[in-house]
Amino acid sequence: MGCSWFSRRGGGPSEVDDGGIASIQNVKIYKYKEIRQATDDFNPHNKIGEGGFGSVYKGHLKDGKIAAIKVLSAESRQGVKEFLTEINVISEIQHENLVKLYGCCVEGNHRILIYNYLENNSLDKTLLAGGYTRSGIQFDWRTRAKICIGVAKGLAFLHEEVRPHIIHRDIKASNILLDRDLSPKISDFGLARLMPPNMTHVSTRVAGTIGYLAPEYAVRGQLTRKADIYSFGVLLMEIVSARSNKNTRLPTEYQYLLERAWELYERNELVDLVDAGLNGVFDAEEACRYLKIGLLCTQDSPKLRPTMSTVVKLLTGEKDIDTRKITRPGLISDFMDLKVRGPVVETKPDDEVNRNNYTNPSSYNASSSSGTRDNSNVYSSGASSAAAVSSFSSTI
Ligand SMILES: Nc1ncnc2c1ncn2[C@@H]1O[C@H](COP(=O)(O)OP(=O)(O)OP(=O)(O)O)[C@@H](O)[C@H]1O
Ligand SMILES: [Mg+2]
Repeated sequence: MGCSWFSRRGGGPSEVDDGGIASIQNVKIYKYKEIRQATDDFNPHNKIGEGGFGSVYKGHLKDGKIAAIKVLSAESRQGVKEFLTEINVISEIQHENLVKLYGCCVEGNHRILIYNYLENNSLDKTLLAGGYTRSGIQFDWRTRAKICIGVAKGLAFLHEEVRPHIIHRDIKASNILLDRDLSPKISDFGLARLMPPNMTHVSTRVAGTIGYLAPEYAVRGQLTRKADIYSFGVLLMEIVSARSNKNTRLPTEYQYLLERAWELYERNELVDLVDAGLNGVFDAEEACRYLKIGLLCTQDSPKLRPTMSTVVKLLTGEKDIDTRKITRPGLISDFMDLKVRGPVVETKPDDEVNRNNYTNPSSYNASSSSGTRDNSNVYSSGASSAAAVSSFSSTI
């Protein structure tokens, strides 16, 4: 076999001075040779995607498992020890709504993650890419409700049961994978920990992700679990409406899902946002409840967003929504090309976010139809938090 299990208790390999591998308890270490064989030497035919961290290949491992093999890009090369420490943390986190990490490969400069392969791809490539017509998957209302609840449970687990808790930082449709039974699995949790500190905040990767970013995180680098909850809210509305948070093919006033949802909510017409592809076969009360939960999660003030365990209860109907409490969503959708670099401040606990430093929403929601944005338009003069070196530019 090209791989081995290392155990602190087991003796053998764990006693060898191997640059950090000895400290690893539960991670399966794969040989680069096996990964090459599994992917037919990283044959482009086996490539199933490419994200901000690197390329993903489908591979057949020697033990018969099918894997998704994520080859991390050069920038994400940590030292062996640091890398394995983080991998060890990630591999211990297991839940039915989280993608399972089989192991990793850390030979030479290579940093590769080996995950359970999910047969039914990601939500962005199925439901949001045309649903049944394109993917052959029937996303009926019950399936969607199951997906929403599963994702909420996975995130609640990361936020509230894992110690220390994990903020995902990149909840979005491409990070929700579907297994054979269309049960959702959140992928890429803990990945931000594998990036060097200067890369972990919003970077050029944000281009495809911006619609999911909580304003306080995108603009000010304030990272709390509430930023994930905001992203979850956007995702929830995408699942119910089967449309992406931004769709430039629609007339201007319909392009931004959150804006549209708020408008319809105010007019008491939220049901219009539900995917027409369901052909009216859905529980309208439940679908509107889901959209309202999406609005609750995306409220401008992080403090007003519910925790993920509350979201689970709201989705399952165990708890009622107090609709009087929904306030306008925070929007940064008009930053078309946002680049922020600088250390992230993980603000803990959530309630301690310094709201005096919080910029008036209207200033980061300013019109941006031309030219380069001056940072002073974005930051309040008192801004002192994370995104120390930042630049905003608009390409529209
Ligand atoms: N475990 C997996 N099983 C099946 N397909 C996967 C798996 N992991 C990733 N993929 C596929 O690879 C694609 C790219 O994934 P990747 O995580 O690299 O990029 P992304 O999710 O689009 O962006 P990001 O880097 O921000 O997460 C996914 O959209 C999905 O189609
Ligand atoms: Mg991903």
